[in-house]
Amino acid sequence: MYGVSNSTFSSISELSELLNLPTEEFSTIFDYARSIRREFLKPEVYLRGLIELSNICEKSCYYCGIRKGNLDIPRFIVSDSEVEQAVRNSFNHGFGSIVIQTGERSDKDFIDRLEKILLSISSDFPKLGITLSCGEQKIETYRRWFDAGADRYLLRIESSNPKLYYSLHPDNDLHSYSRRLKCLGYLKTVGYQVGTGVMIGVPNQTCDDLAADLLFMRDLDIDMCGMGPFIEHKDTPMFNGGSSASEKLKRAAQTLRMIALLRIIMKDINIAATTALETISPEMRFLAFDIGANVIMPNLTPLDYRKKYNLYEGKKSLSGEIDLIFNSLQKGIDPFYLTLGLNKKGTSKHFLKRLTKESLC
Ligand code: 5AD
Repeated sequence: MYGVSNSTFSSISELSELLNLPTEEFSTIFDYARSIRREFLKPEVYLRGLIELSNICEKSCYYCGIRKGNLDIPRFIVSDSEVEQAVRNSFNHGFGSIVIQTGERSDKDFIDRLEKILLSISSDFPKLGITLSCGEQKIETYRRWFDAGADRYLLRIESSNPKLYYSLHPDNDLHSYSRRLKCLGYLKTVGYQVGTGVMIGVPNQTCDDLAADLLFMRDLDIDMCGMGPFIEHKDTPMFNGGSSASEKLKRAAQTLRMIALLRIIMKDINIAATTALETISPEMRFLAFDIGANVIMPNLTPLDYRKKYNLYEGKKSLSGEIDLIFNSLQKGIDPFYLTLGLNKKGTSKHFLKRLTKESLC
């Protein structure tokens, strides 16, 4: 079917070779990924309403616009009633799940508050899927939030190569690679659907690194993935004057290849088409759904705060009435015979299978 080589998609050298192919030759891989998406998944795109709870962060990741050391941005915390309103609004419009993302904090006030918010959302909206993206925590904290109603957790590894990881993060206890791995293990132990992902196009990253990232995700047996192109933010140590439009497009194109290859390797996981991809190319973000992605995360953060959750330069976020946003999303995926999965929780098929397997052991 794929015809490019006899790749089994299972070694770094084979995957790296594919990531290096000229554009014309990669199209057979896209065809293969598309056929797998059609065979293993429903022709749907699941909606996750993204609520950015706060941009207060105790970490100093070199790439991130809301890093602690960035003194130029006003910090915010979305109030309980604003969260409640955003969730209600999204549920009423047909979002089957939400994502709560924040800058990383692990103090008692934050942990307690999020637990209360989760208890309230899950009792008011028992059918809503709740994903957290709140960084590294103790296993007890992950357990408390799970017991309070969160059922999915995203924690990107950013790069599975420790050397590259430490070119993106300070090498200290607060940013330790091994702790990140440990936390991914905790999330599995607690029972979450677990998601991870990487940034694509960071300095000094090779095709071998990206190939290794794909195998890392396979070996971790993840249920969900979100990966996107790296985009410089001017107030971070990784800002180098900004990259050219063509460099950014290259990263977006490489993101599409990563999505296609991951779909081939992990046939039934949920894969998001990310905002970073949309920021570089709205068209490529839609194409991602054709060749492997099946999740979209429209931003539902109250408008006043959105600008302040600026992880990278030019971060896109659609504003306006949810119905209009849905119309434009539906239009974008129409050519691929896909529909928005309104009112669907969109649980990872891979997770459901994993549960069955585990219960048989
Ligand atoms: N470019 C692209 N993605 C970024 N993220 C943070 N900063 C950037 C950036 N400059 C991504 C990280 C993080 C997620 C919340 O946003 O991968 O895990």
